[in-house]
Amino acid sequence: MNFQLTEEHLMIQKAARDFAQNELKPGVIERDEHQKFPAEQIKKLGELGFLGMMVDPKYGGSGLDAISYVLVMEELSKIDASASVVVSVNNSLVCYGLEKYGNEEQKQKYLVPLATGEVIGAFCLSEPEAGSDATSQHTTAIDMGDHYLLNGTKNWITNGNNASIYLVIAQTDVSKGHKGINAFIVEKGMPSFTVGPKENKLGIRGSDTHSLMFTDVKVPKENRIGEDGFGFKFAMQTLEGGRIGIASQALGIAAGAFELAVQYAKERKAFGKPIADHQAIQFKLADMATEIEAARMLCLRAAWLKDQGQPYAQASAMAKLFASEVAMKTTVEAVQVHGGYGFVKEYHVERLMRDAKITQIYEGTSEIQRIVIGREVLK
Ligand code: CAA
Repeated sequence: MNFQLTEEHLMIQKAARDFAQNELKPGVIERDEHQKFPAEQIKKLGELGFLGMMVDPKYGGSGLDAISYVLVMEELSKIDASASVVVSVNNSLVCYGLEKYGNEEQKQKYLVPLATGEVIGAFCLSEPEAGSDATSQHTTAIDMGDHYLLNGTKNWITNGNNASIYLVIAQTDVSKGHKGINAFIVEKGMPSFTVGPKENKLGIRGSDTHSLMFTDVKVPKENRIGEDGFGFKFAMQTLEGGRIGIASQALGIAAGAFELAVQYAKERKAFGKPIADHQAIQFKLADMATEIEAARMLCLRAAWLKDQGQPYAQASAMAKLFASEVAMKTTVEAVQVHGGYGFVKEYHVERLMRDAKITQIYEGTSEIQRIVIGREVLK
């Protein structure tokens, strides 16, 4: 067993850390306050190869491993989770789904611009009445011969407005249940595809979360991904990797809050000495450090299993479950260490605390992760 990162991993980690400090940190408070999508920053992340990190270079990707992806997600999320969720969705849901299950034509047409960062993508599974219960899809795609007619509404879609390419899950045959579900590639601008207003959220306020409405949208037959009826398994398998991304986001949020808490504890004085010299604060920092390290190990292990071609559904669910709970707990404690200053925007920790909450909800709530883990351990 080797816990050492390679030289290449360390270089990638440093590149992401520098990017987060130099490009994401300036303006992060204003983007959060005004719900501004980090468009310029995402463009630059694309130019650096961070939007198609694990995609084969022959499709415009960086050809890196999942360990590198965890390292990048952690560093970006320490500073700006609204930007890192774009990186996560584009890499591990959209690019991965297309590279693994798309055909050559689909890869050339859609994966290449997504992996190079020319455009970004969205993954559209959730619906007003199908969140955790993902088999209950109400969006329908009726086979009309040379095309499908898509009707329905998708909810909580990350990159909802800024994406150009959408992977949409829909029911093609209700009588077959989850075996009658398919995944389709839908382009922005297809007639009768409309984007609803941006959600006004508690956290990750810079990311653009929207509802999408499809009314008799004609989707060409060649835009279906995989064999007929493969859509539900497509969604589940893609989410397995997506959960490594969100687990790493949660890890980054926790680590970012921890770093701020340590720095503040060394600077702030009370009762004649830095608060870091008080055991009450040291105990908090010790717990945070221990839990963050455990979350990091789970994220890296899930990524390592994926890189080795071994099953990782349980490992990614464990990483997401644990890291998201650590993110919530750590950020609350980081605010506490900051006292009153933690409650104001300039000190960043209140934003991290608000951002942490979504990691327990999206790409499967903590309850869903427990279901996935429970089923695996009982197999
Ligand atoms: N890989 C392959 N197949 C899988 C699978 C997996 N990981 N998980 C399930 N399946 C298969 C099952 O084998 C079964 O197929 P068979 O009948 O052929 O055996 C079929 O899928 C149905 O499985 P279940 O009976 O287990 O389905 P279920 O209704 O009990 O639900 C669930 C399972 C795990 C709860 C699932 O519904 C789930 O993961 N829900 C959460 C959905 C989710 O994460 N949504 C997030 C939205 S995306 C998002 O947030 C993105 C963003 O914008 C940030």
